[in-house]
Amino acid sequence: MNKTIILSLLTVGLFSASCQQKTHTLYLDELDMSKIESQWGKSKANKSIDGATLTIGGKTFERGIGTHATSKFMLNLDKKGVRLSAQVGIDDEKTTGSVEFYLIGDKKVIWESGLVKANDSAKTIDVSLKGIKKLAFLVTDGKDGIDSDHADWCDLKIEYKDSVLPEFVDQKAAAAAASEKFILTPKPAETPRINGAKITGCSPNKPFLFKVPATGVAPITFTAENLPEGLTLDAATGIITGKVAKEGEYTVKVTATNAKGTATRDLRIVIGEGKLALTPPMGWNSWNCWGLSVSEDKVKSSVDAMLAAGLNNHGWTYMNIDDGWEAKERAKNGEIVCNEKFPDMKRLSDYVHSKGLKLGIYSSPGTLTCGGYLGSLKHEEQDAATYAKWGIDYLKYDWCSYGQEAPQNPQLADYKKPYIVMRDALRKQSRDIVYSLCQYGMGNVWEWGAEMGAQLWRTTGDINDSWQSLYSIGFGRATNSSTEYSKPGNWNDPDMLVVGKVGWGPSLHDSRLTADEQYTHISLWSLLSAPMLIGCDMSQMDEFTINLLTNDEVIDVNQDILGKQAKRVIMESGYEVWVKDLEDGSKAVGLFNTGGVKEAADYFIWDDQAATSNTLTISATFEAMGISGKQVVRDLWRQKDLGEYTDKLEMEVPYHGVVFVKVTPSK
Ligand code: GLA
Repeated sequence: MNKTIILSLLTVGLFSASCQQKTHTLYLDELDMSKIESQWGKSKANKSIDGATLTIGGKTFERGIGTHATSKFMLNLDKKGVRLSAQVGIDDEKTTGSVEFYLIGDKKVIWESGLVKANDSAKTIDVSLKGIKKLAFLVTDGKDGIDSDHADWCDLKIEYKDSVLPEFVDQKAAAAAASEKFILTPKPAETPRINGAKITGCSPNKPFLFKVPATGVAPITFTAENLPEGLTLDAATGIITGKVAKEGEYTVKVTATNAKGTATRDLRIVIGEGKLALTPPMGWNSWNCWGLSVSEDKVKSSVDAMLAAGLNNHGWTYMNIDDGWEAKERAKNGEIVCNEKFPDMKRLSDYVHSKGLKLGIYSSPGTLTCGGYLGSLKHEEQDAATYAKWGIDYLKYDWCSYGQEAPQNPQLADYKKPYIVMRDALRKQSRDIVYSLCQYGMGNVWEWGAEMGAQLWRTTGDINDSWQSLYSIGFGRATNSSTEYSKPGNWNDPDMLVVGKVGWGPSLHDSRLTADEQYTHISLWSLLSAPMLIGCDMSQMDEFTINLLTNDEVIDVNQDILGKQAKRVIMESGYEVWVKDLEDGSKAVGLFNTGGVKEAADYFIWDDQAATSNTLTISATFEAMGISGKQVVRDLWRQKDLGEYTDKLEMEVPYHGVVFVKVTPSK
């Protein structure tokens, strides 16, 4: 070897040694936890999701991150990561639950835990990060729902070629940027149209309240022929009030007239014991926006916004206060009282009723609600009487801490017990109160909810504003046996709507569902005959959200008086077709592009995401849909006839979007 070569080799060696950057051991618990998305609660540094010491399989950890599956976060490593290590598992604060942990580097899974169950000891991660630009952390629900899925990343640290780690990538902002909102539905016509439910009911001798929802230029005046004795109609507002003594079914001809014309519709009024919610309840609930920070002012601002946006003219009626209204202690006589955020519940209900709307409230059969407020245990009758005195029209009754009263492995009778007590208490009251069971579907509640006197029952855990939540809760309805139990007066409830500004607490954000996913959400809930409770701050609704919630042809599918729940007739990788029978002999059909089987990487927004370009042609034969002969097909979101079809539907459907049509036999 000559001298020059030796010299240059030495130089290269020296040079590369000096280039070898120093690495630093950095803990991820020092980053901004607010960028972590957890399906429930807020992720905490060095604590479990419930705020306890991080503990897995009996071992405690000083450092790490507590999350609640489904949870995710992402780091922009920019190839500066060397190794990652951690210990992961379900926190011992839960004794049930199952999850799967994933580490994904530039869309490729680089480590996965397999199924992890509560009480399992921690699994060790020690992986190379060489060459990775973006590193994503994901915990899924182990395919059995999110209950008890308190997932910890303990001692989570990275060897890094820099002294500081960048903050987590803001996935919410990335999602919002990837989703442009587009409006499909034309504005309501100037001529009058009577909207919403075509049937309504009430118990004999109890207060009746129904506003005829109608659109068209103001002012509109109303008339009604054949109103049962005891009811009167306010011609200027369309609000019908009074009491009817005699049981029976009355067909009332209602008319709405304005300067542009007249519309007429038959409204069936059914008077009979407990004949409530004969179409799925439509309204608003405070939980998905305000969580426990709800107050009278916030409810009132949503009432006013509901009226200002004219949503009540499309059938939206209930204004429901969820958890967080109760005082810390009962009055001396045991009566439940409101906390300082609700100075006068009766005043609020009077106001709501004066507008033709109804007021709902929330409690639990346990000692405490899920939010830690007072429940109704041992005060059921007293509470029902208080609700009636306040003018409450709807009660959501949430299992929560009742789990401590029931045996460890509840049998059917144990599930029913607390709901029977409140049913009997409600029946004794002088006003109708819609009874909504919330116990997340335990014991196949759809099989016995009607026997509880309930008009609706939750069939699932809590929804959130992500595609995976919407997908598993909404489309999951096809995989349980609840379908056949949906009927007028009894509804399966897959939880509330996650459109508009949501947040489950004082700070709100735009729903992380894309515009297409939101069209899917409302179409699917309409096909499922699901109760629709808007979960956003109504005072901040944008034009897109208002448009989404005021399509009367879509609402007509939800409110159809047959009360059938759609069935899934086609499921292929990447698409599904759902069909619902309607009262007039036509069918509502949803062709959904579900985007295929979800890979771990699909939970994240990566740089080069072109999700919206993933349009699919979906084809469904009439035979598969149980239809034959020539059909007129109408696009419900666009309110536009698409023409006559003879043997199949074939539609271009955007990624995670829907084409929602009504198919009517041609005359
Ligand atoms: C449970 C319910 C939610 C909400 C909260 C209130 O989680 O499922 O819908 O009512 O409790 O604490």
